[in-house]
Amino acid sequence: MSSVRQEGKDRIIFVTKEDHEAPSSAELVEEDPNDPYEERGLILPSGEINWNCPCLGGMASGPCGTEFKDAFSCFHYSKEEVKGSECLEQFRAMQECMQRYPELYPQEDEKVPQEQSSETDQTSQESASAETSELFAEICSGLPLDPLPSNRGRDPDVPHAPIRTPNLTAEEKRLALRNALRYFPPSHHATLAPEFAQELWQYGHIYMYRFCPTLHMRAYPIDQYPCRTRQAASIMLMIMNNLDPAVAQFPQELVTYGGNGQVFSNWAQFHLVMHYLSEMTEEQTLVMYSGHPMGLFPSLPSSPRAIITNGMVIPNYSSKNQYEKMFALGVSMYGQMTAGSYCYIGPQGIVHGTMLTVLNAGRRYLGSDDLRGRVLVTSGLGGMSGAQAKAAVIAGCIGVIAEVDEAPLRKRHEQGWLMEVTSSMDQCIKRIREAKSSKTPLSLGFHGNIVDLWERLLLEYERTGELLVDLGSDQTSLHNPYNGGYYPVRLSFHQANQLMTTDPNRFRTMVQESLRRQIKAINKLSDAGMFFWDYGNAFLLEAQRAGAEVEKVGGGATEFRYPSYVQHIMGDIFSLGFGPFRWVCTSGDPQDLSITDNIAATVLEEISASVNNQIRQQYNDNIRWIREAGKHKMVVGSQARILYSDQKGRVCIALAINQAIADGRVSAPVVISRDHHDVSGTDSPFRETSNVYDGSAFCADMAVQNFVGDAFRGATWVALHNGGGVGWGEVMNGGFGLLLDGSEEAAKRASLMLNWDVSNGVARRCWSGNSNAYETIQRTMEGNRQLRVTMPFPVQDERVLDRALQG
Ligand SMILES: NC(=O)c1ccc[n+]([C@@H]2O[C@H](COP(=O)([O-])OP(=O)(O)OC[C@H]3O[C@@H](n4cnc5c(N)ncnc54)[C@H](O)[C@@H]3O)[C@@H](O)[C@H]2O)c1
Repeated sequence: MSSVRQEGKDRIIFVTKEDHEAPSSAELVEEDPNDPYEERGLILPSGEINWNCPCLGGMASGPCGTEFKDAFSCFHYSKEEVKGSECLEQFRAMQECMQRYPELYPQEDEKVPQEQSSETDQTSQESASAETSELFAEICSGLPLDPLPSNRGRDPDVPHAPIRTPNLTAEEKRLALRNALRYFPPSHHATLAPEFAQELWQYGHIYMYRFCPTLHMRAYPIDQYPCRTRQAASIMLMIMNNLDPAVAQFPQELVTYGGNGQVFSNWAQFHLVMHYLSEMTEEQTLVMYSGHPMGLFPSLPSSPRAIITNGMVIPNYSSKNQYEKMFALGVSMYGQMTAGSYCYIGPQGIVHGTMLTVLNAGRRYLGSDDLRGRVLVTSGLGGMSGAQAKAAVIAGCIGVIAEVDEAPLRKRHEQGWLMEVTSSMDQCIKRIREAKSSKTPLSLGFHGNIVDLWERLLLEYERTGELLVDLGSDQTSLHNPYNGGYYPVRLSFHQANQLMTTDPNRFRTMVQESLRRQIKAINKLSDAGMFFWDYGNAFLLEAQRAGAEVEKVGGGATEFRYPSYVQHIMGDIFSLGFGPFRWVCTSGDPQDLSITDNIAATVLEEISASVNNQIRQQYNDNIRWIREAGKHKMVVGSQARILYSDQKGRVCIALAINQAIADGRVSAPVVISRDHHDVSGTDSPFRETSNVYDGSAFCADMAVQNFVGDAFRGATWVALHNGGGVGWGEVMNGGFGLLLDGSEEAAKRASLMLNWDVSNGVARRCWSGNSNAYETIQRTMEGNRQLRVTMPFPVQDERVLDRALQG
């Protein structure tokens, strides 16, 4: 009986005498570095399958190579309507063969522990299953051109992005078409040109639906991706997760969240990126220009494997209208934050931040840690906003959330994040009263427009004197107000979607009327004692633009009648260095996630024993979160976890997880990342940096510095975006992903990069005058003599200024 074992870097295969006696039918393929076919992907120019392609994970050689080739060829050349339906026999033969060699083809639950090497990932290639081989064939061999896949158009069973209205001139339409066709050889232009023109006309953008893969997109475990480096495989996994229909808002339009947060601009780019990643070595870097892969460029093993920029345009040409056109031309793209940087982890990413916001809002506005019987009213159950329902219940209060679109409402209900739904306003008010009096935590979805809900709450107050709401906010997608981010009152969801495209000017007027009505009701309820905050969705900014009464007398350009949640609630927490640290277990195994949860909780508990009181409260909130996280079943898509942590917490958790991978307690590498709702990384004057008062709120040096600094300190990939959260032209943000593979090198990278990633933002906030940040960076310098930050001297006597300015 043959066997396999791992010794250090070596994989030793014992073959018995009997094994040798039976002649093998496998055709062994010699590796030839000069093989002209080596770089050509899965399909050779002749149309034949290239059995040497690394995308096949080495399956074409080995004892079941013949069976694999039979099954694979049958599938590849299948012309049946259900592709491959005539190949069952071949697949069965392949499976039977594999079962005879369990050591060489381990089943999911009995894999041989693998060397965590960053070298060519042969071990992982050998475990590829038939299912994933099909997947690889489709998505990693470059653009499928010969034959072209059939054009199945849009899938009616998944939600689709609103129709874009870029208002291209005739000349610009030609350019958009020409740009799209440049991904394809001229022999296909006559077929594709009318189809792409039709998409542009019908949907306002060329998504190239024909090239949308048929196979199920999800975060497959890291060892199933064909690759020459695991770093590339980790990026593939994160991309696949961002496009998983269970995760993505509009999967066929490549939108992960926020209505227009694109992963790529079209499906050709997806295929090329996956192909490049499957072939890249550790001496190459993938260069991404707003969804377009410019290619693989030589670099160093220590360099990031991908550098992503989205929406970098010349500032004077960064208006929303110009964006619409550039997106339609396929030359620029809005990547939101974690969509275009491949770091989205589902709505869980924001549940934790929202829970912290609600808890700290309770402390600040209601003077209590106990939110039982308190009511939070808000709107939006979409990609991010959906988290409000879950967070309200975790924080112990009653969350009432209006949502106009039935699809996300149902999704959140089925997912268990929303406890009850109703489309009856009377029922909604009744349930608020009942839950308030019994002090029972509740998440209630109201299917309808938020404006109607606010006006009814006001009416109840005026009629009865009873204020049914304590805390209020809004999370409609006002970063994108006229293209489906905000639905005006007086129109059904369907009518609004129609008007948006048939009469955009009328639609715009109705959105603005709606915002004015919404603010009017909120103002009156606030006068009666409710506390309202802007939730970083450009609500107050757009309300102001619509002429609503949100001005703050004496407020600067970033201040309104109501604070942003950063100004009042989260800003000080950022200044202490806390932010949305997260990790993804690339094994896809929930057990790994549970082990890492436990590691993180233990690390935070140890640190919290020696921190000051102000920080301890934050530590306690975060420890409570991570101890209960598994119980709340928040995983959608990849096995990921978010955990707000400060600099010390992030570094220590990363190092502890890396050690657990090295020891084999965690079965596969882990990607660490963050979203951009953080102390550093994001310059957003109406959100993350809205509590920066030295005039630098509109400067974006911090985001760019983070991006560049992360890149050379060890990130596996980095991204820089125009827009994100608050909208195109309103913010710059940078993000990263870093693969922990259990090596010493990974530990070094994580420590260097995470320390910088947090310190940069704390130093900037300190320089702008924040006292929390001052103390935090001071303490950090005491612990690291190589860190030397320029410290500000605040003006202590205002009269010095008065006298100087009087001349
Ligand atoms: N504060 C934060 O931490 C934070 C984080 C992420 C996102 N955001 C911002 O929050 C906003 C929402 O993000 P998302 O990912 O949930 O977007 P989304 O588009 O997925 O969800 C918004 C939802 O609001 C609904 N909606 C629109 N108008 C409505 C109305 N008048 N009444 C009731 N429902 C209405 C839409 O149908 C949609 O489902 C975005 O602007 C985003 O940038 C804030």
